Amino acid sequence: MGRFDGKVVLITGGNRNTGLFITDKFVREGARVFMCGSTPESTAKGEAMLRGMGVTGFRAIPCDVSDIRQVTNLFDVIEREVGCLDILVNNAAHQGIGKPFVEMSPDYVKEVFSVNVVGGFQVTQMAVNRFFLKQANRGVVVFLSSNTAQRAIRNRTAYCASKGAINSMVRAIALDMAPLGIRVNACAPGYIYTERWDKLSEDVKARRRLNCPLRQEATGRDIANVVAFLASADSSNMTGEIITCDAGCSCQHMPEDVDY
Ligand SMILES: NC(=O)c1ccc[n+]([C@@H]2O[C@H](COP(=O)([O-])OP(=O)(O)OC[C@H]3O[C@@H](n4cnc5c(N)ncnc54)[C@H](OP(=O)(O)O)[C@@H]3O)[C@@H](O)[C@H]2O)c1
Repeated sequence: MGRFDGKVVLITGGNRNTGLFITDKFVREGARVFMCGSTPESTAKGEAMLRGMGVTGFRAIPCDVSDIRQVTNLFDVIEREVGCLDILVNNAAHQGIGKPFVEMSPDYVKEVFSVNVVGGFQVTQMAVNRFFLKQANRGVVVFLSSNTAQRAIRNRTAYCASKGAINSMVRAIALDMAPLGIRVNACAPGYIYTERWDKLSEDVKARRRLNCPLRQEATGRDIANVVAFLASADSSNMTGEIITCDAGCSCQHMPEDVDY
């Protein structure tokens, strides 16, 4: 028996990297999963990868979470096909990579926020209004935040700010929804091994690992495990919480190579 037998789960950005492992985790633990990428092409690619991994029992529907019409369409499909939703995982993110502050346009900041903050907001609001409030068993929301909400990284002002906004939003939604029995929490990862790591030199990977007290970045499966915990009854007394999963990066003041 799986922890999520009979549960219906929506995972945004479930088509790639960490989201792919989150999709895999919920399907393998018995859930019926709806996942989306931002475009038909990227969603179909993720669907093919998952099927290649032997994962079935999920439905792939493209949805740009920053576009309310596409979000509405996604929920129309879920309503038509299963008529309920138990768990929402807001994993989709605009990485906002590589723009120094002095060159970052306000429009770029809006672009990052439109996915990470407004996207997460409107998908969550639709899950609550269209399903959770009408269901006796209510529902659970898990956001993917980042340890960069607390400790900034260079040239990522829009991204770091959006993750800080997610942490505040998680606490605010959790407070409003708690009396109604809806829980909202977040996992805040540090380094995760994704396809972007494949392009790094071994030297850079080694230096990054030296920055981690546990000497190892997270895998997508490590993060999926935390997300599944927050979505499960094992965390039933938790809401408004941000769980950091970053190999101990956030507990150190300076990396070891600076100390010696
Ligand atoms: N990787 C890390 O080291 C790290 C560290 C801390 C936190 N995180 C957080 O953990 C989560 C997963 O990270 P990741 O590195 O696996 O992410 P990623 O590789 O950048 O993938 C992002 C995912 O979000 C989707 N997405 C982007 N814009 C979207 C939109 N407008 N509508 C719908 N989907 C959209 C992408 O779909 P497409 O394929 O269509 O683009 C993709 O599936 C993110 O929230 C990220 O911020 C990651």
